[in-house]
Amino acid sequence: MSGTRRRTTSEHPGEQANRSPPDTPDSTKAPSNPNSNPLFGHRPTIMVLSALGAVLGAIAIRTYISPASHGALAWSASDVPSQAQVINQKAFNVLGNVPPATQANGSSQSHAHFDRRDFWRPLFHEAVVWYPPTDEVFFVQNAGAPAAGTGLNKSGIIEKIALSQADAVKTQSNATGQVDVVTVNSTPQIINPNGGTNYNGKIVFTAEGAGNNTPPALYVMDPTDPYNTTVILNNYYGRQFNSLNDVAVNSRNKELYFTDVTYGYLQDFRPLPGLPNQVYRFNEYTGAVTVVADGFNLVNGITFSPDGSIAYVTDTGINQGFFGYNYSYPSAIYSYDVQDDGTWDNRKIFAFVSVGVPDGIHCDSAGNVYSGVGDGVHVWNPSGKLLGKIYLGTTSANFQFAGQGRMVICAETQLYYVTLGATGAAITDYDFSTGY
Ligand SMILES: *[C@@H]1O[C@H](CO)[C@@H](O)[C@H](O)[C@H]1NC(C)=O
Ligand SMILES: *[C@@H]1O[C@H](CO)[C@@H](O)[C@H](O)[C@H]1NC(C)=O
Ligand SMILES: *[C@@H]1O[C@H](CO)[C@@H](O)[C@H](O)[C@H]1NC(C)=O
Ligand SMILES: *[C@@H]1O[C@H](CO)[C@@H](O)[C@H](O)[C@H]1NC(C)=O
Ligand SMILES: *[C@@H]1O[C@H](CO)[C@@H](O)[C@H](O)[C@H]1NC(C)=O
Repeated sequence: MSGTRRRTTSEHPGEQANRSPPDTPDSTKAPSNPNSNPLFGHRPTIMVLSALGAVLGAIAIRTYISPASHGALAWSASDVPSQAQVINQKAFNVLGNVPPATQANGSSQSHAHFDRRDFWRPLFHEAVVWYPPTDEVFFVQNAGAPAAGTGLNKSGIIEKIALSQADAVKTQSNATGQVDVVTVNSTPQIINPNGGTNYNGKIVFTAEGAGNNTPPALYVMDPTDPYNTTVILNNYYGRQFNSLNDVAVNSRNKELYFTDVTYGYLQDFRPLPGLPNQVYRFNEYTGAVTVVADGFNLVNGITFSPDGSIAYVTDTGINQGFFGYNYSYPSAIYSYDVQDDGTWDNRKIFAFVSVGVPDGIHCDSAGNVYSGVGDGVHVWNPSGKLLGKIYLGTTSANFQFAGQGRMVICAETQLYYVTLGATGAAITDYDFSTGY
């Protein structure tokens, strides 16, 4: 989605005041099998690439977590990285002071304080796509936020970095200016791209459109210069979509599934919505477009389990755009069973997010679910239990795995390069030119 951000606001009594390891092992703090926790699996380091300046500069990297490797089935103090923050979830169960929603407002309860007013500019927003042939990561600016300078007359742009550059500075805590953020001049220009994924050797973007006369569309872009782009879908039987948000390819049927939400209207750059918040499915070869799910408040991110059998969809209803925040609405991830014929069944709530809203969502190769939320990226096991956080202290709208043990996280004014003990779900790259 566009325009979501949050600053951390207060201390939480349940968290440790520092990032020291616990003195004693505590089974209430640990997952039953630590090897299943990608955040503590093996020797990850998490860095921050932080953009504080112009589009083509300014990236900082900061190390967050460097866990020691281990093979034991129980945690001990030495398993916990010195920088990691271990949270005793039981300590949150009963609190002395529980503020009402208008005061708590879904903000992160944390000791970390940030003030970004001096350098707020949403350069690093969504549509994060790793392109293996060049080992580059593409992403887009925030189209909705006023500070992005987009809106009816302009468009959020696509940018990219080379991971070789990020990797070369990964031991630094702040590598501002050492990684080039390169503008990708898609031709013709993609108007307000927001979501993206690998598709048929190229990248498919969901674009939100602008005004009355630039309808939202699916664009396919060649990831190499001159970045030729082609519109492959821009309507539902003659009706404009509202503002396409995110897209994923199902690994079983290779089809595109994408979300359409009313944020373009709620952020003032699209007219009144003409369709419900829905998830669509598109087969480029046959041209068939169908609706697979509705009933959302504000549908947003979408992904599949590695085997394609489960769909995960986020609903960011709490953030009502220019209507403000309403904490009685969803901040949720729903799961569906993907049937053999590609339709969806068995909607379940998978997780409710307590900090901000769940926006972009991706699975690792083990089926753990990651989503960008109000204080970084949260990680759940396939049963919806929170395994941990890649804690940034600021909102991440989206992020992407970049192969084995690497991740790039967009956090609006910061770009983070992360190494961790997990690998992204395999990319489904399929040539549709000959059908199935
Ligand atoms: C949340 O509460 C904090 C502290 O009262 C306030 O500064 C912030 O503006 C609020 N955010 C929203 C979105 O209401
Ligand atoms: C777009 O440009 C026109 C002409 O310059 C201007 O009148 C209008 O206010 C602009 N709209 C936005 C949303 O910036
Ligand atoms: C990172 O480095 C840049 C450039 O040297 C500097 O402007 C910025 O304040 C640094 N950020 C942090 C968090 O230290
Ligand atoms: C890109 O588009 C231009 C203009 O249509 C065309 O001449 C060129 O061959 C295309 N390049 C690629 C790599 O497809
Ligand atoms: C939140 O939504 C509920 C249900 O639609 C509504 O009754 C309430 O007035 C809304 N609250 C705010 C603050 O908008």
